[in-house]
Amino acid sequence: MIWMDFLCHPVWAVLTAVLALVVRLQRRGSWDPHACTVQLKGKTAIVTGANTGIGKFIALDFARRGARVILACRSEPRGRAALKEIIAKTGNSNVHLRLVDLSSLDSVREFAKRILQEEKALHILVNNAGVSGLPRQITKDGFDVSFATNHLGPFLLTNLLLDLIKCSAPGRIVTLSSLNHGKGRVDFSHFHGDNISYFLDNVYNHTKLHNIICTNELSRRLQGTGVTANSVNPGVVMTEVMRHYPLMFRCLFNIVGFFFFKSAEEGAVSSIYCAVAEETEGITGKYFESDCSLALPAPLARDAALALKDFEICERLTSKL
Ligand SMILES: NC(=O)c1ccc[n+]([C@@H]2O[C@H](COP(=O)([O-])OP(=O)(O)OC[C@H]3O[C@@H](n4cnc5c(N)ncnc54)[C@H](OP(=O)(O)O)[C@@H]3O)[C@@H](O)[C@H]2O)c1
Repeated sequence: MIWMDFLCHPVWAVLTAVLALVVRLQRRGSWDPHACTVQLKGKTAIVTGANTGIGKFIALDFARRGARVILACRSEPRGRAALKEIIAKTGNSNVHLRLVDLSSLDSVREFAKRILQEEKALHILVNNAGVSGLPRQITKDGFDVSFATNHLGPFLLTNLLLDLIKCSAPGRIVTLSSLNHGKGRVDFSHFHGDNISYFLDNVYNHTKLHNIICTNELSRRLQGTGVTANSVNPGVVMTEVMRHYPLMFRCLFNIVGFFFFKSAEEGAVSSIYCAVAEETEGITGKYFESDCSLALPAPLARDAALALKDFEICERLTSKL
């Protein structure tokens, strides 16, 4: 009873409101994409998962800067809706929809083949698409579906488009990871859905750790090519990312998120900063925090020997041999 009186005291409401205000003021970060005058006319950019959430705002920003933007989406109707919205909002009609299901290696190969046939250049690739909260499910390639979508599909896509990006240098590859990578572990049997606990979406944390590890190795391999590769944490963002969670989780996320989390537009800022800002030109193999600052990722993500091994295993798993 005493505890209830204590917790119901109006001071808690006031403190929560103050905290929400402080978080709201802070979450905008120091870099404002609207104040950045970089133009992307003559540049081509691909954004995966561009039909909603963070990806849609990244694509919208590139389109505003005059880029030729390819929305790499898996759903035709959802992709078309985003395409229409982006063209209407930016007046840039050089925005196109191409379909890809990143959880399928065949679909990734098909998509990349079409891009290589149609595009003369590729300057920016944003690996944004991702899933969270999926139960165990093995794809027809034999991979856990979260690993296939969040890591192996984007890994293959990046490698298939790499020569085109190198020929178009300077180029930038940006991969969306998460603060949760710090809770991830590396066990290569995870790729096939073995030895994973799906409790509290551990599998998501593992995939986001692999994102950073392989991006770092990629950046080492790209030294001297004029192409950079970095990982980004967008922050905690109000999007559809919780769609596979139980209703109770989604409600809680939305209620807390309304006060404390970033909007999808705010969540896109660190990725846009990494992909277009003059300040980030030439920076490679780094991890950007949601406020656009450079940060050290978890120790496993900084292990160069592990990165080499991880990259080689992913190459083997995604090759056709
Ligand atoms: N929101 C956060 O708090 C948060 C925090 C840290 C990191 N991130 C990362 O930020 C990125 C964007 O997330 P978000 O919050 O914007 O999530 P979201 O609103 O759920 O959007 C995810 C996008 O990925 C697409 N996608 C999912 N599976 C796909 C597949 N197999 N093939 C192709 N596209 C697929 C979705 O397409 P459909 O609409 O057709 O499903 C959608 O366009 C993700 O990599 C996520 O891990 C988000």
